[in-house]
Formats: sequence, structure tokens, C-alpha cells
Amino acid sequence: MERRSLSEIWEEAQNLFPFSQSIRRDLHRHPELGYQEKRTAGIIAGELKQLGYEVRTGIAETGVAALIEGNLPGRVVMARVDLDALPIQEETGAEYASQVPGVMHACGHDGHVAVGLTVARMLASRREELHGTVKLVFQPAEEGLGGAERMIAEGVLDDPVPEAALALHLWNQLPMGKAVIRPGPLMAAADMFTIRIQGHGGHGAMPEKTADPVLAGAQVVTALQSVVSRSISPLESAVVSVTQFSAGDAFNVIPDAALLRGTIRTYEPDVRERVLERVRSVAEHVAAGMGCSAEVLIQPVTPAVINDPQVAKVTAAAAAAAVPDLRIDETYRVAISEDMAYMLEQVPGCYFMVGAAPSAEGTPYGHHHPKFEIDERSITVAAAILTAAILDLAKSSDHS
Ligand code: NI
Repeated sequence: MERRSLSEIWEEAQNLFPFSQSIRRDLHRHPELGYQEKRTAGIIAGELKQLGYEVRTGIAETGVAALIEGNLPGRVVMARVDLDALPIQEETGAEYASQVPGVMHACGHDGHVAVGLTVARMLASRREELHGTVKLVFQPAEEGLGGAERMIAEGVLDDPVPEAALALHLWNQLPMGKAVIRPGPLMAAADMFTIRIQGHGGHGAMPEKTADPVLAGAQVVTALQSVVSRSISPLESAVVSVTQFSAGDAFNVIPDAALLRGTIRTYEPDVRERVLERVRSVAEHVAAGMGCSAEVLIQPVTPAVINDPQVAKVTAAAAAAAVPDLRIDETYRVAISEDMAYMLEQVPGCYFMVGAAPSAEGTPYGHHHPKFEIDERSITVAAAILTAAILDLAKSSDHS
């Protein structure tokens, strides 16, 4: 991509700001929960059809996928944005606040749709110079409801198969003018564990006749603290949190069993494997040492969001060329999880974050807070980055 044409992207994204803002505010007034984004999907499909995209609707209930083919040969590049709001009562007092009681765009996905539709306009106006094919994916139900997995199951990654995938989050914990575009892991893998400790109950005054699962459980909780501190390198990171411990019903009865539950967060697949193996082993052996047995069940929640180094490199270069004075952070990461991880397991890609802190002083209310707000100009920054990255990725004939 010529640098001249990348600077035109910034100008066009800025000119489109009134459009981006009106889309974002309209969706903000009319938020819809996961799999119920009918109005949102209707607006998206209508706009994309008008721009000449080939549009498929009803994927995973309310998902939309749209294709545009460039006039020049190139690769298939996919960009995904999410659509859903949260079950939160808005308290911002904004003029464009939610008109739906108990439902709010408190994560900025309204802004993501605005980014997606702004990008759709910019790509449509560049058909002549566009290489390859661009697939825009509007995904429902990101907020823990499995939207990405359902879209994959319903074929969103097939026909045509994307060779690179992009996604983003407007992030109000970072200042405007900053973007996180990094190789490797950006968001954590989440696993849930359940440990059932089986002992042998009896009279609280005759412990010698029992195998006490409360004592064994307490030892297991303590011993699990050694997993991160003793089995993981200080240069790597992981979280093991025991968040539930239940056992017993009476003050004078040693119960038969105890139940522990908790969460594990990791970034690297090999660290994850080690932590899971250690949690299992520590629980089983410590319980055995106390005369009990432990059954450990680990349920994966979401894999880590891991960026492909080459796609991240092209994206960062395109972003730097398209957005004047953009500060790119290559080290930031967060322990939240994101279902785009499932798509990135199949397609090499880059998930990036765009600073969106509102201009008001002080720390902004975080994502999922009733007073959550973004600086809407971040939509322009994100749209320019996404458009530039798509154009460059579709053009490059290989990964080099
Ligand atoms: Ni979100």
C-alpha cells in the first residue's frame, strides 16, 4: 500500500465521523442482548447491501457476514466486530442513553459496529484499488454466550476461507491516541476447576475415626498457592484462584465431602498445560496425604487470544502509516477473555485495542460499569487502523 493512500484513509475516516457517531449513538439508545440483536443486524445488513456487499444474515441467529471483492488479485481477509449489549441499567445520564430498561452498551460494542460500518464504506469507495476479498463478520453474543463458536459452526470461516483475521476492542482504560498492537498473547485463556474431596465423616469429637475433608480441603487451598509461585517461571504469568469452598452442615459433624471451585487464567498454551497438570496433581496428592481422595474436573471456558506475529507486524505498520502520531504499545495485555480466540485458533490474525478514554478528568468508569463511556473519536482511529490493515493484508501475497 502506498503511504499516500494510507494518509487519505485518515482524512476519509475523519470525514465519516458524523456517520460513525450517528450509528454508535443510535445503537447506544437501542441496545440488544446476545442473540437478540435483530434491530442492530437489520441496520447492518441494510447498510451493507446498499454499499454493494454480498450479505448473509441469520448466522448464529443474528449474525451477519458480508463479502466485497476487489478488482485486483489478493488474499481473503476477515474482520470481525461484536454486536451485543449487557444486562446493566445505564447511569451515564447521556443525551443518547439507553432507552431500554436494564440493557446497556456498557462494553463499547455499539462503537465496534460503528467501526465496522465505517470501514465498510471506506472499502466500498476503494473497490478499484482493493486487492483480494474482504469478509466483514458482525458477531452476536460475545458476552459469554458463545456467539463466535456458533458462527464458526454455521460456516462463517468457510467459503471463502479467510487467510488473515482482524478484530478490535475500543478500550477506555487506555488514552486516546494509543493502540495495543502486539504479537503473541493479548488476552488470557480461562478455565474453571471443580475439586471434590471425598473423606469419611463422623462425630466431631472422634476425629480419629474419620478422614476429614475440611482439613484436606484447607490444605489443598494452601498448597494450590504454590502452583504459580513454584511451577511457573517468574517471567511468565498465571492466576489460580479458589473462589468457592463448601462443606458440612453442623458444628459437631465432620462431613463426608468438600467441594472447591475456582478459575485459572493463563496466556501461553504450555503454561496452561503445566498449571492444569499441577492443580490436578497437587489436589490429588495433598488430599491423599490427609487420608481423602480428590476428583478434579477442569472445564475450558475460552482459549487465549493469541496474535500471529506476521499479521500483527503488518497491522502495526499499516496503523502507524494511517494514523498520525499514533502511539503503539507492544507489551500491554489483559486477563479478560474474548471468544474471538476461537476464530484466531483457526485463522492467523491480530486482535488490537484502541485507546478510548473519555476526555473527562480522572480514571474512567471501566467496561461493564453502569457509567461506562468512551471518547467517540476512538471510532475514527479504529476505523482507519482496520481499513489500512485490511488493505495491506489483502495485498500481501504471502506472510513475509
Ligand atoms: Ni467487549
